[in-house]
Amino acid sequence: MPEDPVKELRELVDNLSDWLRYQRRLGWRGLPDKVAPQREDRKKSADKIPSLEEIRAEMGDCRRCKLYGGRKKLVFGDGAANARLMFVGEAPGADEDQQGVPFVGASGQLLNKMLTNLGLRREEVYIANIIKCRPPGNRDPEADEVATCLPFLEKQIQAIRPQVIVILGRPAAHALLRTKEPITRLRGHWQRYHNIRVMPTFHPSYLLRAPQERRKTWADMQQVMEYLAGHEKA
Ligand code: URA
Repeated sequence: MPEDPVKELRELVDNLSDWLRYQRRLGWRGLPDKVAPQREDRKKSADKIPSLEEIRAEMGDCRRCKLYGGRKKLVFGDGAANARLMFVGEAPGADEDQQGVPFVGASGQLLNKMLTNLGLRREEVYIANIIKCRPPGNRDPEADEVATCLPFLEKQIQAIRPQVIVILGRPAAHALLRTKEPITRLRGHWQRYHNIRVMPTFHPSYLLRAPQERRKTWADMQQVMEYLAGHEKA
């Protein structure tokens, strides 16, 4: 440890200034011009995060994967564009495909009930799925479908900038977190998606089949609510 760290730092800065002056006298003209535009570019691309409307427009009448053939409606997402809390499910079912809105069938009724019990209104959260078109017979989304559709969800997340994402069920957790951990191990434990906190929990359709597990999802949601209560959105 230096005897006087402040004095030492001052000397270091003086030496560096002398050295830079010396380099200038030798003809050095500072950092290359390229550095400034690169910084500008980075700022510009950060400024250019598309809005939800722009992302929806980009999807258009999407035919990027085989699911378009069987769909009635593309299910983009629903809720507040500035939501603090976002839910990510798996894929539209028959009711969602019919209405073009996520979680409006039996699973949606349970999700709505949970939101009400937590004191949340559906309009203040945002709800979306990892894929936007219904797979035939409600089978799990296939890898190519997820790979094609996930970038749109990722853009939605960027646009909304939620403080917490609750992932509902295994397929959504595996896709968004790029893991193969079983949902039974993931649930209840904070994860990260970029710099956003993520709480994986059971899918409502599983909870309809296994009501004895609901208390676990309730406990997971308590963690989420506690976090949100202590952290205002910037
Ligand atoms: N299940 C999901 O994962 N998403 C929906 O939108 C409906 C049911």
